[in-house]
Amino acid sequence: MNSLIKTIVGKDILEAAKWLKQGACVGIPTETVYGLAANALDPKAVVQIFSIKNRPTFDPLIVHVDKLESVETFADSFPFALRALAERFWPGPLTLLLPKKEIIPDLVTAGLPRMAVRVPQHNMVLDLLSQLPFPLAAPSANPFGYISPTRVEHVEQQLGGLIPYILDGGACRVGLESTIVGLEGNLVTVYRLGGLSVEAIESVVGPVQIQLNQSSNPAAPGMLKTHYAPRKPLFLGNVQALISEHPGKRIGLLSFSGLIDVEVFQQEILSKTGNMEEAAQHLFAALRTLDNSAAELLVGEWVPDLGLGRAINDRLRRAAVVGKE
Ligand code: TXA
Ligand code: MG
Repeated sequence: MNSLIKTIVGKDILEAAKWLKQGACVGIPTETVYGLAANALDPKAVVQIFSIKNRPTFDPLIVHVDKLESVETFADSFPFALRALAERFWPGPLTLLLPKKEIIPDLVTAGLPRMAVRVPQHNMVLDLLSQLPFPLAAPSANPFGYISPTRVEHVEQQLGGLIPYILDGGACRVGLESTIVGLEGNLVTVYRLGGLSVEAIESVVGPVQIQLNQSSNPAAPGMLKTHYAPRKPLFLGNVQALISEHPGKRIGLLSFSGLIDVEVFQQEILSKTGNMEEAAQHLFAALRTLDNSAAELLVGEWVPDLGLGRAINDRLRRAAVVGKE
């Protein structure tokens, strides 16, 4: 029921700040994916994020701050192990779950006692944050459940007409959402695989536990089984076998490193050199390209389950059809 407004795409940080100060939502670049930002301390601004994205209000938002020291204003405590991670990896693709202070509205955390917070690694958004007297709540700037945006055109295509301004920061360097980490008791726990590898986290705090897909945690759709999904059905596994199961269909193929020698309608390669960082960077854009092509269904292969490959496989798993078709 949002009426259409004029959307401007540009690089004007003051203009973005002006809209945010007025309580509007603005598209912002980060190193992971583009975000849909609003004043995190103003529930009237934050509620618009949910309506624009068509996102259920039980799905909490990540709060973006300009520097590590700012966390103390919003978090009640900063456990040693999590602080060590922040010191090592911020600004960067790491989100920490910390006990929140009252100043953070319940709408932001979906009523949960912890807030999710990170310092993004992108000069434009750090500049923007330093000019604002409040932090920014920002989920990925896509309609709920769809593929996350990694280029400014993705945001414009999907949220154009719904927000006044999109800050153009170029293509996202990492291309996967941040890794979400918190404590369960004393155990460092990864709740969402993402742009910072588990290996990198373990190099600072030692072995961690991984807790994805908690059915008991409805507050985390990023952990839902089907999410980040294209409109077309995506089948994963042995590419040759999957293709032969769909004779006569126009197939869009997502391959990891090499051109797979099969007859398909269209093929997108994540990284010709098999570089995992590059594959992560291209993943969402490649899925979008195939989804917007004239292919009828999508077929993809798993990537090696190491480093960022684990997060890529996690996104592929959630993007794939589960019991559909
Ligand atoms: O890289 C990113 O994290 C991007 C950029 C824009 O910063 N943001 C992003 O936000 O991916 P979003 O809304 O798409 O994913 C946020 C997820 C939630 O779905 C939930 O899984 C988790 O973060 N989350 C947020 N707040 C939480 C909380 N208080 N407790 C537990 N999980 C939380
Ligand atoms: Mg998202």
